[in-house]
Amino acid sequence: MVDAARASGKVILAGEHAVVYGAPAIALGIDRGASARALTLGASDASTLRVTFADGITLRVVAGESDEPLAKAYAALLASLRAKSVAVDVETDLPAGAGLGCSAALGVAIARAVAGPSDDEVREHAMAWERVFHGNPSGVDAAVAALGGTLSFIRDGDRSIIERVASAQPLVLAIGHSGTASSTRTMVASVARQRTRQPALVQKTFDGIAAVVRNARLAIEAGDLRAVGQLLDMNQMLLAGLLLSTQEIEAMCVSARTAGALGAKLTGAGGGGCVIALVETRAIAEHVLEAWKGDGKTGFVAETAPARGIRPVVVQAGAAP
Ligand code: MEV
Repeated sequence: MVDAARASGKVILAGEHAVVYGAPAIALGIDRGASARALTLGASDASTLRVTFADGITLRVVAGESDEPLAKAYAALLASLRAKSVAVDVETDLPAGAGLGCSAALGVAIARAVAGPSDDEVREHAMAWERVFHGNPSGVDAAVAALGGTLSFIRDGDRSIIERVASAQPLVLAIGHSGTASSTRTMVASVARQRTRQPALVQKTFDGIAAVVRNARLAIEAGDLRAVGQLLDMNQMLLAGLLLSTQEIEAMCVSARTAGALGAKLTGAGGGGCVIALVETRAIAEHVLEAWKGDGKTGFVAETAPARGIRPVVVQAGAAP
């Protein structure tokens, strides 16, 4: 048994929602995440889980004891890991419902603490946990939680195609909370309903997002941050067209651009949660945070580590709905 383990939170730079339907996304691991410890119990003991969230709130559940999602997700994760009775203590410094991959980071950290599987295996096990919370996750959050770094992610039926993106330089982001939590399940269901009602229109938007992601990858690799920023703004417009933005998110994007950001957008499910703003330097990121503070919003600066090269393509099963 491994007794302590970590997993990364994430931001989706471009491609959220469309990624659920097979379009590519680019996501980055951030240095906030989750950390878990596990203790083996007697064979007849029920498995327990204690989660401490960033706001200090603590939840305690017994695996499968109730229909409460956390108890169900924990039971599903332990079943996937074929784990014996265990007591897990996990904490996260990520806000929940903020689009920063809190649930995936918790799932990956718990799986690592309980069983210590390989990075690819842990990603697959974490999907059992993610499906309870999100219904139809693409797997991008679990992939970044497990693998970190900058990733290109494509859901291709029951496979995931994951590639490292070689960033010519570290990306610096200001990340701010809109002040409203949102549910990934609800927002993904809202897009699914729009897709049922207007399939051609929604497909056009997904195609637009896929083009943004492809160009964003090329721009990241070329170190053309201005182009990346413009593409983030385009992605934001396309997401707003899917009714995923809010007045607060739009106002934060405007404030960030006025404060010197190259581009800004919601990240993750939308409908609330966080905004990311791409900036050239940490000093400009601080200007963005100041502007958001003036509007009553909190935030922090995140930076990705420079990639050391593109590793071979990873193609894995396990991201099926
Ligand atoms: C949530 O972080 C990202 C979404 O695209 C959902 C998913 O990919 O499972 C909205």
